[in-house]
Amino acid sequence: MDKTKYIGLFSLIVILLTSCDYNRRTTGWEYGRDMAHSAAYESYTPNANFADGKTMQPPVAGTIPRGMVPYAFEKTDEDRVLAAQTLVNELEPTPENLERGKRMYGIYCMQCHGDNGDGQGSLFVSKKYPYPPASLLSEKMRANPEADIYHVITVGFGVMGEHGSMIPPEDRWKIAMYIKNELQ
Ligand code: HEC
Repeated sequence: MDKTKYIGLFSLIVILLTSCDYNRRTTGWEYGRDMAHSAAYESYTPNANFADGKTMQPPVAGTIPRGMVPYAFEKTDEDRVLAAQTLVNELEPTPENLERGKRMYGIYCMQCHGDNGDGQGSLFVSKKYPYPPASLLSEKMRANPEADIYHVITVGFGVMGEHGSMIPPEDRWKIAMYIKNELQ
């Protein structure tokens, strides 16, 4: 064996001996990057690879969460009429459903529309909310079906914001049912 082979063999033995860990608690010597030190980006750090400079990217436009049923109507007067004519509440007005509707109304609507639906909720009366919340007891609202309320909850109406992202479909129907059966 010539000299270089000896050096090569010697180096290999040295590398093998020194790269072992001794007690399984240390990583030993690190020649390349060990997996213990992740090269991956952290979610909330800057990232030059993306146009917006962020590591965590929003879902692709049009992405639908698993289980979500896209809503077919928009926040327009025509769609409100269409939704009211098309959508059907398949839930029965059982005491449990009405009770649930009352609870959800108390959480999401009462502060503006009032405990009895007259539009005099505490946020408006105390002047913390400037727009007069519509009365849900008007002639017009008495004539409108549950689906009309369902639509307004889902996409909002005028200055009232949408509540569809906060209230699941079944609860929207229960609120509409409660308004129709117990407030009006
Ligand atoms: C932050 C206050 C606020 C909350 C909360 C709120 N609304 Fe409204 N709502 C309004 C305002 C204000 C209007 C009138 C909007 C306009 O005329 O531009 C309105 C309008 C409506 C209308 C249409 C009435 C009509 O005559 O056309 C319905 C139905 C309705 N709200 C139902 C609800 C229900 C059900 C909830 C609970 C899920 C709710 N709102 C939560 C403020 C609110």
